[in-house]
Amino acid sequence: MTKHTVTLTDNLTGKQVELDVLDPVMGPKTIDIRRLHKELGFFTYDPGYLATASCSSAITYLDGDEGTLMYRGYPIEQLAEKSTFLEVCNLLLNGDLPTKEEQEDFSSIITHHTMLHDQVQYFYRGFRRDAHPMATMVGVVGALSAFYHDDLDIHDPEQRMRSAHRLIAKMPTIAAWSYRYHMGLPFNQPRNNLKYSEDFLHLMFAVPTEEYVVDPLMAKALDVIFILHADHEQNASTSTVRLAGSSEANPFAAVAAGIASLWGPAHGGANEAVVNMLTSIKDSGKSLEHWVERAKDKDDHFRLMGFGHRVYKNYDPRAKIIRELANEILDRLPPNNPHQKLFDIARELEKVALEDEYFKERNLYPNVDFYSGVIFLSMGIPVSMFTVMFALARTVGWISQWNEMMSDDANRIGRPRQLYTGAMKRDYVPLDKR
Ligand code: CMC
Repeated sequence: MTKHTVTLTDNLTGKQVELDVLDPVMGPKTIDIRRLHKELGFFTYDPGYLATASCSSAITYLDGDEGTLMYRGYPIEQLAEKSTFLEVCNLLLNGDLPTKEEQEDFSSIITHHTMLHDQVQYFYRGFRRDAHPMATMVGVVGALSAFYHDDLDIHDPEQRMRSAHRLIAKMPTIAAWSYRYHMGLPFNQPRNNLKYSEDFLHLMFAVPTEEYVVDPLMAKALDVIFILHADHEQNASTSTVRLAGSSEANPFAAVAAGIASLWGPAHGGANEAVVNMLTSIKDSGKSLEHWVERAKDKDDHFRLMGFGHRVYKNYDPRAKIIRELANEILDRLPPNNPHQKLFDIARELEKVALEDEYFKERNLYPNVDFYSGVIFLSMGIPVSMFTVMFALARTVGWISQWNEMMSDDANRIGRPRQLYTGAMKRDYVPLDKR
């Protein structure tokens, strides 16, 4: 078979370079530009990496036109329906669906790493009570590097895996304590007799004065939401973890960098924006058509939050799953519950928008964030915790991607180049001559 290459010609000098075309298992072919600078002296310019593969990866595949998302080749729909979050963690980290024994071992390891070192509570106590839980999380997860640094050899695959287990196991405790501290509630210790998502609900909501009974529907819904958010290939926070980790930095510090990136409203903050929008619609008393017209008006900065996606231009496969979950929860909630109205507005708004030519023409469908916020509210999780929930679930993706990078021989310290647009060389002018 002839080798697939592309030839790039410098039209000024006539010099040429022949570049290999790499064939992925799925997705667009990729030009290997590593020889470009050496042979022609050029860099490439691609702000936001819109057309650049920053690494090769065997973890997650998504196709925005088809509306496909797969972890290690398994469609998200099948995993959401048949798997559990801890099994998905094992799959993402280790590459294949585990046997029964392997999964039992994995669950046992995670369960026995959930406690935090006693000193960690003092990091929380250093924060103001009104600190945003994401700010607390960035600090506490970064601080874990101080607990697991001297004895961690990141070139040893076994030790890397131990860090991954620690992060996945401790994240629910860290996340719930951020909330408890904010609320002035005592910290709960994890319980080994509870499953991962059940334990998170217990860590969040149990009070010392009463027995806490986990609602199985809420625990199941949470587990599915965690599965849907577990990984999403090379997004901003994952790329941040890879870049920070490429210098061989401590993995806890690299994941703290990922949490910081996720916090931005353009990344992890959208479900918060959806709930704020639905609340404004409810309080305004205006018709849904009024809001849809506003979203279409180019002179109005209002957009339908939870609609549209940078990559999914057909539909977001996670949105379909989460919509069904929202319906199931809504059917179970008592009538006239405080969140019923928001659910009703969300469902009605989706209908109105999907029948509107503007949204149809532009392929604007609800994304994963459209219903997740209202589900969280119905679980008693406040708006300020929404991005924390995302960080908890995405931790396995970040650490799997970090682990993959650390075992990749092609890995080099991340060092993007630039297109310099500043001043030419000039001489320093003494202060009294300026
Ligand atoms: N409401 C109204 N119009 C919209 C919306 C919206 N939500 N989203 C896109 N459009 C219009 C946009 O004005 C443009 O119209 P025109 O072609 O006439 O100029 C067209 O649709 C294409 O939009 P775009 O901004 O070029 O699309 P994009 O790929 O750059 O933006 C997006 C994607 C997610 C930033 C955008 O759809 C948006 O702002 N949505 C609302 C915020 C949101 O829900 N974000 C969560 C994304 S999912 C998070 C995750 O996967 O982690």
